[in-house]
Amino acid sequence: MDTITKAKKAAGEKAAALVQPGMLVGLGTGSTAYWAIEKIGQMVKEGLNIRAVATSVASEQQAKALGIPITSFSEIQQLDIDIDGADEVSEDLQIIKGGGGALLREKIVAHASRRKVIVADERKYVKTLGKFPLPVEIIPFGWELVFKSIQALQGSPTLRTREDQPYITDNGNYILDCKFGAIENPEQLHHHLKAMTGVVETGLFINLKPTVIIAYENGEVKTI
Ligand code: A5P
Repeated sequence: MDTITKAKKAAGEKAAALVQPGMLVGLGTGSTAYWAIEKIGQMVKEGLNIRAVATSVASEQQAKALGIPITSFSEIQQLDIDIDGADEVSEDLQIIKGGGGALLREKIVAHASRRKVIVADERKYVKTLGKFPLPVEIIPFGWELVFKSIQALQGSPTLRTREDQPYITDNGNYILDCKFGAIENPEQLHHHLKAMTGVVETGLFINLKPTVIIAYENGEVKTI
């Protein structure tokens, strides 16, 4: 296992240790949240009694394969803890997510959770957001118009593709990966984007007040 994968595993496992018996747990998406889900699966096998809501089809499949009981918002109102990855976390704890395409469900689950825990390796921890292109989930119909509106906002969008076709999210939508340069005011940018007809959600996770667990390649793990 390389040092970055080890760091992701360390962050994920540290977060999993916060899960207590009886909790309702949000399961994130991506290669760091993966390790939290693996650890929670092991804890469930050892007798931990929890129920979980997953933020993507992939994470739900992983959880089910591990025997983690899955519930949904038709049965519950609120989660106790949500453990998820990030593409960038700034020093003032604003976040970019959606590199794995799951930002909409991730945001719904994060907002439904009393405690939000973000797990990331050191490369994600930045002074200012914006090096990672901001994922924006949009409705396929008329996507070209949103593309142009983002250009008018001084953004540089790219339609995400997979095998030369538009990438389709778990919700049947497209994603524009948008470069804005350094994002000095994430809250304002989020609101400008959300105001565009056709935009479903942005990857800016603002003012979540998360617990952030950063794992370093040298083996250190810090909770911020
Ligand atoms: C999924 O859409 C994303 O928000 C992920 O949580 C994020 O991309 C982090 O993924 P990794 O842990 O794989 O970097």
